Amino acid sequence: MSDQPRRAACPGSFDPVTNGHLDVIGRASALYDEVVVAVLVNESKVGLFTIDERIEMLAEVTASYPNVTVRKFRGLLVDFCRANDIPVVIKGLRVASDFDYELQMAQMNLGLARVETLFMPTNPQFSFVSSSLIKDVAKWGGDVTPHVPDAVAARLRERLAKPQD
Ligand code: PNS
Repeated sequence: MSDQPRRAACPGSFDPVTNGHLDVIGRASALYDEVVVAVLVNESKVGLFTIDERIEMLAEVTASYPNVTVRKFRGLLVDFCRANDIPVVIKGLRVASDFDYELQMAQMNLGLARVETLFMPTNPQFSFVSSSLIKDVAKWGGDVTPHVPDAVAARLRERLAKPQD
Protein backbone atom coordinates (compact mmCIF):
# COMPACT_ATOMS: atom_id res chain seq x y z
CA MET A 1 0.00 0.00 0.00
CA SER A 2 1.24 3.46 -0.88
CA ASP A 3 1.72 6.21 1.73
CA GLN A 4 0.19 8.73 -0.67
CA PRO A 5 -3.05 10.27 0.59
CA ARG A 6 -6.06 8.91 -1.27
CA ARG A 7 -7.49 11.89 -3.10
CA ALA A 8 -10.72 12.38 -4.99
CA ALA A 9 -12.21 15.32 -6.86
CA CYS A 10 -15.83 16.45 -6.79
CA PRO A 11 -16.07 18.66 -9.88
CA GLY A 12 -18.89 20.93 -10.97
CA SER A 13 -20.18 24.41 -11.69
CA PHE A 14 -21.75 24.86 -8.24
CA ASP A 15 -23.78 27.92 -9.26
CA PRO A 16 -24.70 27.66 -6.39
CA VAL A 17 -23.89 24.63 -4.23
CA THR A 18 -27.02 22.71 -3.17
CA ASN A 19 -27.74 20.24 -0.38
CA GLY A 20 -27.44 17.52 -3.02
CA HIS A 21 -23.87 18.56 -3.84
CA LEU A 22 -23.07 18.83 -0.15
CA ASP A 23 -24.39 15.34 0.52
CA VAL A 24 -22.07 13.87 -2.14
CA ILE A 25 -19.08 15.93 -0.96
CA GLY A 26 -19.65 14.89 2.66
CA ARG A 27 -20.00 11.21 1.78
CA ALA A 28 -16.89 11.39 -0.43
CA SER A 29 -14.97 12.98 2.44
CA ALA A 30 -15.74 9.92 4.57
CA LEU A 31 -14.25 7.62 1.91
CA TYR A 32 -11.09 9.50 0.92
CA ASP A 33 -8.20 11.13 2.79
CA GLU A 34 -8.61 14.32 0.81
CA VAL A 35 -11.46 15.62 -1.32
CA VAL A 36 -10.93 18.53 -3.66
CA VAL A 37 -14.06 20.33 -4.76
CA ALA A 38 -13.11 21.52 -8.25
CA VAL A 39 -15.10 24.51 -9.51
CA LEU A 40 -15.09 24.92 -13.29
CA VAL A 41 -14.22 28.39 -14.60
CA ASN A 42 -16.30 28.59 -17.76
CA GLU A 43 -15.56 31.88 -19.50
CA SER A 44 -18.27 31.30 -22.10
CA LYS A 45 -21.10 31.05 -19.56
CA VAL A 46 -22.20 33.84 -17.24
CA GLY A 47 -23.41 32.45 -13.94
CA LEU A 48 -25.58 33.97 -11.25
CA PHE A 49 -22.59 33.90 -8.90
CA THR A 50 -18.97 34.63 -9.75
CA ILE A 51 -16.43 31.87 -9.35
CA ASP A 52 -15.08 33.53 -6.22
CA GLU A 53 -18.57 33.77 -4.73
CA ARG A 54 -19.19 30.07 -5.48
CA ILE A 55 -15.88 29.18 -3.86
CA GLU A 56 -16.68 31.31 -0.80
CA MET A 57 -20.04 29.56 -0.37
CA LEU A 58 -18.48 26.13 -0.88
CA ALA A 59 -15.70 26.88 1.59
CA GLU A 60 -18.25 28.02 4.16
CA VAL A 61 -20.57 25.04 3.82
CA THR A 62 -17.76 22.45 3.75
CA ALA A 63 -15.88 24.01 6.67
CA SER A 64 -16.93 21.16 8.96
CA TYR A 65 -15.05 18.66 6.76
CA PRO A 66 -11.35 19.12 7.54
CA ASN A 67 -10.25 17.02 4.56
CA VAL A 68 -12.22 19.00 1.97
CA THR A 69 -10.65 21.85 0.02
CA VAL A 70 -12.14 23.99 -2.71
CA ARG A 71 -10.23 24.98 -5.84
CA LYS A 72 -11.09 26.45 -9.20
CA PHE A 73 -9.92 25.00 -12.50
CA ARG A 74 -9.89 25.94 -16.17
CA GLY A 75 -9.75 23.61 -19.13
CA LEU A 76 -9.91 19.86 -18.86
CA LEU A 77 -10.80 18.22 -15.59
CA VAL A 78 -8.25 15.49 -16.28
CA ASP A 79 -5.47 18.09 -16.49
CA PHE A 80 -6.52 19.47 -13.12
CA CYS A 81 -6.56 15.93 -11.72
CA ARG A 82 -3.14 15.13 -13.13
CA ALA A 83 -1.65 18.38 -11.81
CA ASN A 84 -3.00 17.65 -8.34
CA ASP A 85 -2.35 13.89 -8.15
CA ILE A 86 -6.03 13.05 -8.11
CA PRO A 87 -6.79 9.65 -9.65
CA VAL A 88 -10.54 9.57 -9.00
CA VAL A 89 -13.52 11.78 -9.74
CA ILE A 90 -16.74 11.32 -7.80
CA LYS A 91 -19.99 12.23 -9.51
CA GLY A 92 -23.43 12.20 -7.94
CA LEU A 93 -26.20 10.54 -9.94
CA ARG A 94 -29.66 11.91 -9.20
CA VAL A 95 -31.76 10.07 -11.75
CA ALA A 96 -31.15 7.51 -14.48
CA SER A 97 -30.99 10.21 -17.15
CA ASP A 98 -27.91 11.72 -15.47
CA PHE A 99 -26.11 8.50 -16.25
CA ASP A 100 -26.01 8.81 -20.06
CA TYR A 101 -24.06 12.06 -20.09
CA GLU A 102 -21.96 11.17 -17.08
CA LEU A 103 -20.98 7.84 -18.66
CA GLN A 104 -19.70 9.62 -21.77
CA MET A 105 -17.60 12.00 -19.69
CA ALA A 106 -16.32 9.16 -17.50
CA GLN A 107 -15.25 7.15 -20.52
CA MET A 108 -13.62 10.17 -22.14
CA ASN A 109 -11.72 11.02 -18.95
CA LEU A 110 -10.58 7.41 -18.61
CA GLY A 111 -9.29 7.42 -22.18
CA LEU A 112 -7.67 10.85 -21.90
CA ALA A 113 -5.73 10.30 -18.70
CA ARG A 114 -6.78 7.07 -16.95
CA VAL A 115 -8.74 9.21 -14.48
CA GLU A 116 -11.39 6.99 -12.91
CA THR A 117 -14.96 8.08 -12.22
CA LEU A 118 -17.03 6.66 -9.39
CA PHE A 119 -20.75 7.30 -9.40
CA MET A 120 -22.46 7.98 -6.10
CA PRO A 121 -26.25 7.78 -6.06
CA THR A 122 -27.63 10.87 -4.36
CA ASN A 123 -29.86 10.46 -1.38
CA PRO A 124 -33.42 10.29 -2.72
CA GLN A 125 -34.47 13.53 -1.03
CA PHE A 126 -32.07 15.36 -3.33
CA SER A 127 -32.92 13.60 -6.58
CA PHE A 128 -34.89 16.53 -8.00
CA VAL A 129 -32.57 19.29 -6.77
CA SER A 130 -30.37 21.11 -9.26
CA SER A 131 -28.66 24.50 -9.20
CA SER A 132 -30.71 25.62 -12.21
CA LEU A 133 -34.01 24.72 -10.56
CA ILE A 134 -32.95 26.41 -7.34
CA LYS A 135 -32.12 29.64 -9.20
CA ASP A 136 -35.42 29.61 -11.05
CA VAL A 137 -37.50 29.00 -7.93
CA ALA A 138 -35.55 31.59 -5.92
CA LYS A 139 -35.85 34.14 -8.73
CA TRP A 140 -39.63 34.03 -8.50
CA GLY A 141 -39.69 34.15 -4.72
CA GLY A 142 -40.19 30.43 -4.02
CA ASP A 143 -38.82 28.85 -0.88
CA VAL A 144 -35.53 27.08 -1.54
CA THR A 145 -34.47 26.82 2.10
CA PRO A 146 -35.08 23.02 2.28
CA HIS A 147 -32.72 22.45 -0.65
CA VAL A 148 -29.68 24.65 -0.06
CA PRO A 149 -27.53 25.49 2.96
CA ASP A 150 -28.69 28.58 4.89
CA ALA A 151 -25.67 30.59 3.73
CA VAL A 152 -26.62 29.91 0.12
CA ALA A 153 -30.28 30.77 0.67
CA ALA A 154 -29.18 34.11 2.16
CA ARG A 155 -26.93 34.84 -0.84
CA LEU A 156 -29.74 33.97 -3.23
CA ARG A 157 -32.11 36.34 -1.44
CA GLU A 158 -29.50 39.09 -1.55
CA ARG A 159 -28.69 38.53 -5.24
CA LEU A 160 -32.30 38.21 -6.36
CA ALA A 161 -33.75 40.88 -4.09
CA LYS A 162 -34.63 43.18 -6.97
CA PRO A 163 -38.06 42.49 -8.44
CA GLN A 164 -37.82 40.81 -11.87
CA ASP A 165 -39.65 42.24 -14.91
O1 PNS B 1 -22.00 20.97 -12.44
P1 PNS B 1 -21.80 20.62 -13.88
O2 PNS B 1 -21.90 21.85 -14.74
O3 PNS B 1 -22.70 19.50 -14.33
O4 PNS B 1 -20.29 20.08 -14.00
C1 PNS B 1 -19.76 19.64 -15.24
C2 PNS B 1 -18.24 19.50 -15.15
C3 PNS B 1 -17.59 20.77 -14.66
C4 PNS B 1 -17.89 18.37 -14.23
C5 PNS B 1 -17.76 19.14 -16.60
O5 PNS B 1 -18.33 20.03 -17.52
C6 PNS B 1 -16.25 19.18 -16.76
O6 PNS B 1 -15.56 18.32 -16.27
N1 PNS B 1 -15.77 20.24 -17.42
C7 PNS B 1 -14.37 20.49 -17.61
C8 PNS B 1 -13.97 20.41 -19.08
C9 PNS B 1 -13.72 18.98 -19.46
O7 PNS B 1 -12.91 18.28 -18.89
N2 PNS B 1 -14.45 18.52 -20.50
C10 PNS B 1 -14.37 17.18 -20.98
C11 PNS B 1 -15.25 16.27 -20.14
S1 PNS B 1 -15.12 14.63 -20.71
